[in-house]
Amino acid sequence: LSPDGAVIVLFGATGDLARRKLFPAFYSLYREGKLSDRFAVVGVARRPRTDEQFQEDVLESIREFARHQPGEDDDWDAFASHFRYMSLDIHDLDGFRRLNSLAGQLDETFAVGGNRLFYLALAPELFGDVSLNLKGGGLLDSAGWHRLVIEKPFGYDLESAEKLNEELRRVFPEEDIYRIDHYLGKEMVQNIEVIRFTNAFFEPLWNNRYISNIQITLSETVGVEERGGYYDTAGALRDMGQNHMLQMVTMMAMEPPSVLHPEAVRDEKVKVLKSMRLYKDAEDVRRNVVRGQYVAGESKGKALRGYLEEDKVPEHSTTETYFAAKIFVDNFRWAGVPFYVRTGKRLPAKATEVVVEFKNVPENVYLASKHQLQTNLLVFRVNPMEGVYIKFNAKAPGSEERIVPVAMDFCHSNGVGINTPEAYERLIHDAVRGDSTYFTRWDEVAAAWRFVDRIAAAWRESNDDLQTYPAGSWGPEAAAAMLEREGHRWWPVN
Ligand code: BG6
Repeated sequence: LSPDGAVIVLFGATGDLARRKLFPAFYSLYREGKLSDRFAVVGVARRPRTDEQFQEDVLESIREFARHQPGEDDDWDAFASHFRYMSLDIHDLDGFRRLNSLAGQLDETFAVGGNRLFYLALAPELFGDVSLNLKGGGLLDSAGWHRLVIEKPFGYDLESAEKLNEELRRVFPEEDIYRIDHYLGKEMVQNIEVIRFTNAFFEPLWNNRYISNIQITLSETVGVEERGGYYDTAGALRDMGQNHMLQMVTMMAMEPPSVLHPEAVRDEKVKVLKSMRLYKDAEDVRRNVVRGQYVAGESKGKALRGYLEEDKVPEHSTTETYFAAKIFVDNFRWAGVPFYVRTGKRLPAKATEVVVEFKNVPENVYLASKHQLQTNLLVFRVNPMEGVYIKFNAKAPGSEERIVPVAMDFCHSNGVGINTPEAYERLIHDAVRGDSTYFTRWDEVAAAWRFVDRIAAAWRESNDDLQTYPAGSWGPEAAAAMLEREGHRWWPVN
């Protein structure tokens, strides 16, 4: 954290994100000494709550979700004393004035020098009004910096995203807007860049001469749970594709930045997004993008209902819960290398993985002696395991002639998140320090929408291509067929 500290104003403080991710993140940062004593959190939401009740909510959330637990000797009361609550109707300007005076008092109590971080864990429709009222209520007049942290979805398409952005920009300059994509806070997603740019044996091979294709899988076992209302308006393309998935593509494809400065890194990422080949028309989309919706199925002997039977999902919804696409990054490095991406709900495994498939070596020598060489793979595992895995060919131990694939595995953790900071911890820490590297800049968001809008437009024209897949399966057959046409196949997740 910057030594200055900050008052963090958290809108949506009684919501799910706060409970599952944000309170636990604050606590872990505090326990690890990354949040000094110079901070305060003002929880803001509509419903009435006392400070004590709010602190109790925070404690409960930490007990349930945090990787650090308040122990016997832990000074819980000291931590809790940094939390305040204020009930506020976000259309009430007077309320914002009161919020400002509370923030002013906390500034003094915790000596934070007027720095303020506004975290909007709210529906995006409210971002514009809240920003205006922050300004109108005088919250941006304190000495120190003022930053806005917002959650996705950032718009529904390019046009709505532009509108939203204009609303924010009336109040905050771009450099003070921190758009969260929590995938960028994940340990192994950040590690992609480090592994690529710090190792002599990866970067020289990182191009179309040696790489055959790249596969990115973001699969989930869950269905839409209680989020049917939101999800049905988004679908897999907007929920995971426009943001997390395309950000993963940028991490794999970007050029090395000349310095490790947030703008330099983001300049390189936006170049990738702008180099992605836009699908020409509906037919092009159909050839290169597969969409599907789950129907009833089963997993591990348990019956699972179909998407249309989920709560709050309209009876005849055509929203996709799966999509797979073949993407080309049309620059010098990647010409001709397909990036195959897929994501879906109700797939057989929770996995976030990137597979780099290398081109084969000339096989004449070994083919002549009837050896079957296996393809070299480099795999980044983001979730649930964290690590890197390399598959290559070697002689079977003891045998004269048998060649077998062997694997070298570097594993950070044996399960989800053991001692690895949660994505939200890093991102909050970065936002307070003023490091925007792992937040999405406006031009990235716009370029991503430009790409996604072509797909959405084709899908609006007709639903003929919407496939179904049984819950608990790996998605529509058509996604496999798309790779087979190119002589490729999806590598099973590890
Ligand atoms: C969110 C999506 O952004 O990411 C959810 O809205 C999805 O639908 C989630 O479940 C997946 O995140 P993670 O970190 O569990 O892979």
